[in-house]
Amino acid sequence: MVEPSAGLVGSSGRLGTAIRAVCAERGMPVVLEATSSGIVRRADPDVVICAAHREALDTAAGLCRDTGAALVLCASGLLPEDLVQVRELSRAVPVVVAPNLALGHWLQLRVVRSIAELAAKAAPPPQATVDERHPVTKAHRPSTTAEVLAEAWQEHAGFAATEVVSLRTGLPVSEHALRVTFAGESLAVHHDVRDLRAAANGALLAARWATTAPSGLHPMSAVYDHMFGVDER
Ligand SMILES: NC(=O)c1ccc[n+]([C@@H]2O[C@H](COP(=O)([O-])OP(=O)(O)OC[C@H]3O[C@@H](n4cnc5c(N)ncnc54)[C@H](OP(=O)(O)O)[C@@H]3O)[C@@H](O)[C@H]2O)c1
Repeated sequence: MVEPSAGLVGSSGRLGTAIRAVCAERGMPVVLEATSSGIVRRADPDVVICAAHREALDTAAGLCRDTGAALVLCASGLLPEDLVQVRELSRAVPVVVAPNLALGHWLQLRVVRSIAELAAKAAPPPQATVDERHPVTKAHRPSTTAEVLAEAWQEHAGFAATEVVSLRTGLPVSEHALRVTFAGESLAVHHDVRDLRAAANGALLAARWATTAPSGLHPMSAVYDHMFGVDER
């Protein structure tokens, strides 16, 4: 398989460094790198992976407009105006919005949806909470992933989680849990990421997939849905 070439925005950061390492291992050429100091462009990329904070979105979107490259947007904490910009860009190129790139997150979300649908029928109905932990370097709270889990619970259970709790402490990378409390018992679905390679592997899968996708806005789940041959839910 001929690997597409990648442009990496945020190449000097924590996530960018992990993605660069996985690109090197898997033979995906990184032909453009961007940091807050500027852009080093050796060739036009097929896909831009934006592994920086939302502040770099203008740079990434500009590169995609210039070159026609697809975009994999890894930043979390996007603001409503960012989503307007991304939707506009997706009229011209494929855009994968991936605030959580990990396979474990895709699986966790599927489990949460299934539990919510069934647990909501219990009498009395259970109580659900979401908690997340990141190191103190995490810029915002709650994490986008915690919000996604709480939204999935509400959509599939028909009632809201009672708490979404954030803790800023400990070692990289992140933990997210949905906890469901029934009468006399509880159940937790816990995703623990210890190494940014989990996200970097997902970024490469998304980059390959994006170069074959039609223009439009695609969630990261579409990449794993396709990979595992399941229908999008
Ligand atoms: N989707 C996922 O699974 C996942 C996983 C982990 C992190 N993230 C998200 O990824 C983002 C980055 O996290 P991180 O921990 O890697 O951050 P980080 O270590 O602070 O790195 C940020 C990177 O962005 C660069 N940058 C800053 N402003 C820029 C600009 N205007 N144009 C181009 N590049 C710019 C920085 O360059 P300098 O070195 O020059 O400052 C650096 O390379 C965050 O939003 C985080 O939440 C997502």
